[in-house]
Amino acid sequence: MKFLQLSVLSFLIVILSLNGATLAHPYGDFLHCLSLRISNSSTISKVIYTQNNPSYSSVLNASIHNTRFATLTTPKPYAIITPLKTSHVQSTIYCSKNHGFQLRIRSGGHDVEGVSYVSQVPFVVLDLVNFRDVKVDTKNEVAWVQSGATTGELYYGIAAKTQTLGFPAGICHTIGIGGHLSGGGFGILGRKYGLAADHVIDVKLVDANGRVLNRKSMGEELFWAIRGGGGNTFGVVLAWKVKLVPVPPVVTVFTVNKNLEQNATKIFHRWQYIAHKLPNELFTAVWVMKVNSSQVGKKTVQAGFRGMFLGGVDELIPLIQHEFPELGLAKENCTQMSWVQSILYFGGLPIQPVNILLNRSALPVSSLKAKTDFVREPMSETGIEGFMNMFLEEEADFAITMIEAFGGRMDEIRENELPYPHRAGILFESTYIVQWTNEADAGRYINWIRRLYSYMASYASKSPREAYYNYKDLDLGTNNIVGYTSYEQASVWGLKYFKNNFKRLAQIKTKVDPMNFFRNEQSIPPL
Ligand code: FDA
Repeated sequence: MKFLQLSVLSFLIVILSLNGATLAHPYGDFLHCLSLRISNSSTISKVIYTQNNPSYSSVLNASIHNTRFATLTTPKPYAIITPLKTSHVQSTIYCSKNHGFQLRIRSGGHDVEGVSYVSQVPFVVLDLVNFRDVKVDTKNEVAWVQSGATTGELYYGIAAKTQTLGFPAGICHTIGIGGHLSGGGFGILGRKYGLAADHVIDVKLVDANGRVLNRKSMGEELFWAIRGGGGNTFGVVLAWKVKLVPVPPVVTVFTVNKNLEQNATKIFHRWQYIAHKLPNELFTAVWVMKVNSSQVGKKTVQAGFRGMFLGGVDELIPLIQHEFPELGLAKENCTQMSWVQSILYFGGLPIQPVNILLNRSALPVSSLKAKTDFVREPMSETGIEGFMNMFLEEEADFAITMIEAFGGRMDEIRENELPYPHRAGILFESTYIVQWTNEADAGRYINWIRRLYSYMASYASKSPREAYYNYKDLDLGTNNIVGYTSYEQASVWGLKYFKNNFKRLAQIKTKVDPMNFFRNEQSIPPL
């Protein structure tokens, strides 16, 4: 029996060595450690992808949603581990820890700074692509969803069972549940119900010691921290139990586009005073981008006013006519549909068939840089004019700013209820995104978005200038790549994302991961 075990082990070691690992190197030791713990050769081939594996690149690239981090010079993981069960996650943590590899956890791969699959030190990626179960229980109005599922898979799972329940998470249907819920999660139901993280009622997490914990066994402090305090800081969240929310069987969506020549600036100016005070059932957003002007060969800037109303068009039109007549909303701008179709509408996709929500690569992928602001005071008309004019610049050809109204339920939740603090008093959140096609030009485009961000400094929230963790921005500051990062150093970015919750997050981190195993450029450092 012992002989048999030894032969299997030698066989595995040979396979891994042939795969490019040298056992004298810590990497060889890491693979050896993992293969000992997984021990079944057919499972190993489905779980461990070394750089020499023919599927390595396709597995790595499958969830890269920012090609800025898919270049030849981007540092690559020594191995990608795609666990099939919890013990594989525990083993990966154990072996990375014991052999000095940094661990990057990836669910949907939408991290805008590539933090889930890039590191400057030797690292492996734990890719939860096989943890994708969605179990919807309509009777109790809850669902268990694994981290590797996308929001689209959750939305689809709910809609397949009922038209009168939904979940308040992000607009894009390809974002992963793991990263999204651990950073907050705001979408078209946000004004009515708050964040995705506000609706988490239990989790399954593997901590730095390999223990599998749920809400009860981890305690309320850690449970608080993982609902908005960021991913890859406290452990690997395998699954989330979420509370579903009621939605009507029919909702109404609309888009009204106004460009500079059609008073876009004035209407946007007015929108700031109204949008956060509208009934909670009405979510509106303004998407700003460069478009063709009606004059041939000329460009202009468009403010696209978009909305989703939890009700019918006959109720919506008089409401808007009363509250926001400047928009000129007409019936032909509106379409009635189901809540799940409204997700596709906002994502710019055809609303039929809805099973496109299961397609993880339904949206085009590009190279991009994003930044965010929370705005508490309305911008002046001249301020808006200057902002819009920046979109006429050449670098803004593929730029967009998505401005989403807050207020409603977001105003009612205390800043320290969860780590995500941007609640009462926020008029809107702006996500600035610039995209480019030629990597050689990246610097120019990044420079443009940095200038836009500097321009917006006078209008954005101050002391701190708040930022949304789910759109990471490493310009705000980073931890040291190697070695210790002090609380003071991390506060430079940490207070922007978490305000006064940052200290509590650092205290929890100190308790649950004092050796800082789970770390990245913007993970919470232990005190
Ligand atoms: P990814 O897998 O890249 O992970 C992001 C971070 O979380 C990384 O640090 C990672 O290590 C960590 N992590 C991932 N899984 C984990 C797990 N299981 N346990 C612990 N840590 C884990 N946001 C929003 O609020 N509303 C919106 O509408 C949108 N829309 C949107 C569209 C597009 C195109 C992009 C690129 C992004 C958004 N976002 C968004 C932002 C999005 O919420 C954010 O990028 C999430 O972190 C994405 O989660 P993923 O799992 O896809 O990312």
